[in-house]
Amino acid sequence: MRQFNVVVLGAGGVGKSALTVRFVRDVFVENYDPTIEEQYHRPIMVDGELSSLEVLDTAGAEQFTSLNEVYIKVGVCKSPGERCSTTSRDAPSNSLTQEVSLKEVESLRKQIFRIKGSESVPIVVVGTKSDLVSEREVPTTTIESLASRWNLPFYETSAKRNWHINDVFEDLLRQMRAR
Ligand code: GTP
Ligand code: MG
Repeated sequence: MRQFNVVVLGAGGVGKSALTVRFVRDVFVENYDPTIEEQYHRPIMVDGELSSLEVLDTAGAEQFTSLNEVYIKVGVCKSPGERCSTTSRDAPSNSLTQEVSLKEVESLRKQIFRIKGSESVPIVVVGTKSDLVSEREVPTTTIESLASRWNLPFYETSAKRNWHINDVFEDLLRQMRAR
């Protein structure tokens, strides 16, 4: 079974852990506990092929983001000998309820391309918390037009309602397999 690495990046509190835990464990994390670093894995069947995804949930809080550069460069590698040191896959996330988190996506995108030395990196842009309709600051059209200018796939998700969570990881997996 082929194994792929995904790194979840984005501003603090946007919902990276909730997205990751919904995908891996199918539960919603209600309370906010800022992440330092968590690693998960899950087998996933896409297009009739079973693969294993290693998902690294990173810190959004500024005091912990110094390691992001390393994560982007090498992906996840906890046990020596694992075939994981060459690539990382990145899913910048953006909370639809926070206009400022969109700026973070733009800067992460630049950081990823700089560190990878290439613009050919599998990326999916995620707008989180789409269930919080009344708190929305970022209209769908704004981020849709940004994502299409960047030429990146974009999904609006809700970890709470389990909306489009699998789509994010399936899209990434298809991009990574196509490499
Ligand atoms: P850091 O680890 O600090 O970078 O934050 P994070 O991006 O991992 O955020 P986290 O997933 O911990 O979510 C922050 C808060 O938002 C938590 O209280 C979550 O329950 C809430 N939250 C996350 N996703 C959703 C969602 O889809 N809908 C709603 N309503 N709340 C969400
Ligand atoms: Mg977190």
